[in-house]
Amino acid sequence: MARVAEAAGEPLSKALGVATFYSQFRLKPHGKNTIRCCHGTACHVSGAPLITQEIERYLGVKPGENTDDMLFTLEEVHCVGACGMAPVVMINDRAHGKLTPEKGVQVVREFREAELAAAGNGGGEGHVCACAAAAEAEEAAE
Ligand code: FES
Repeated sequence: MARVAEAAGEPLSKALGVATFYSQFRLKPHGKNTIRCCHGTACHVSGAPLITQEIERYLGVKPGENTDDMLFTLEEVHCVGACGMAPVVMINDRAHGKLTPEKGVQVVREFREAELAAAGNGGGEGHVCACAAAAEAEEAAE
């Protein structure tokens, strides 16, 4: 940050102010995928704490941490704007709603397996989008 501030000709405090204001900027490494467990009011009263607890246990990380393989960063957020689907967990841009602790872990597990399968494909021709694979798995389970 000091080098960025120096290059911009601004004080370090101003550069840090900008970097910490916008959620798109991060000061530490972030996992490839972001899991956001909503803890807004609707989700909280619908069981979000238990869902987050089970996802934490499954991934072996706490909110704000990355998995060892850097596949996921777990975050706790406040209202993702899908209260009608509470409780909600976002995996990247996709909302998964009406979850139970078991379903929460299931969607994360299916997404993780799809990601690992896609990575096994080398990511080139024939690359399988993890979101599409997870959606197919979810539809098949319903
Ligand atoms: S409180 Fe969770 S989506 Fe609004």
